[in-house]
Amino acid sequence: MPVLVVNVDHVATIRQARMGNEPDPVTAAHLAEMAGAMGVIVHLREDRRHIQDRDVEMLKDVLKTNLHLEMAATSEMKSIALKTCPYMICLVPEKREELTTEGGLECLGREDFLQSFLDPFHQAGIRTSLFIDADRYQLDAAARTGAEYVEIHTGHYAEAKNYKERQKELEKIIAGVSHAQELNLKVNLGHGLNYQNIFGFSKVRGIMEYSIGHSIISRAVLTGMTEAVQAMSGIIRSFVD
Ligand code: PXP
Repeated sequence: MPVLVVNVDHVATIRQARMGNEPDPVTAAHLAEMAGAMGVIVHLREDRRHIQDRDVEMLKDVLKTNLHLEMAATSEMKSIALKTCPYMICLVPEKREELTTEGGLECLGREDFLQSFLDPFHQAGIRTSLFIDADRYQLDAAARTGAEYVEIHTGHYAEAKNYKERQKELEKIIAGVSHAQELNLKVNLGHGLNYQNIFGFSKVRGIMEYSIGHSIISRAVLTGMTEAVQAMSGIIRSFVD
């Protein structure tokens, strides 16, 4: 059965807008777990634009499900991840100027580097995943690195401008899923998935995890709006002149 793993980066994005301490991504992670998420994902970016090192440490301490750490393949992230010991790491490409991860990791021709990067994680019993496009050559290369999982990038599907383009991207992902499974890679999916486009995968078998953040946090902001305004309005109305 596939499971949902919730990315709470954007709770931290809102917090960092004021550089304060709310909303707390750790509290959001607890609520996600209580609602049925089987894990929580954070991306500790080099520029620390949302998740901070302390969030990662606290999540590792308090989560009852699994902590997934998305990270660039740098030596700084490697040492943080090995110290933290998350359930799984997922290597992603990272550019400072991007708003979010824009594409899959380049694995082709980098198998040796990636294999030696992942090696200490395997020795430490940490599951490893590579975020890649649904491209058979990249998947072949991913398998050669010894990674246990791939997360196939669903962003191009999510961003497709029309039905025809969306179907084309969906078919590419479905072919990628089968190819990865033939290579004995476990398959996760993620990026840009929302309450509408997720249905495209309803008949796709063998997916281990769906990694979803932005659409869930967006919905949470709006579904929580009425209650939040009522609470503040109630306080102000209780003031007497
Ligand atoms: N998977 C990866 C590798 C990502 O970089 C992201 C974005 O942080 C996600 C999944 C979640 O994407 P979204 O926030 O669009 O649901």
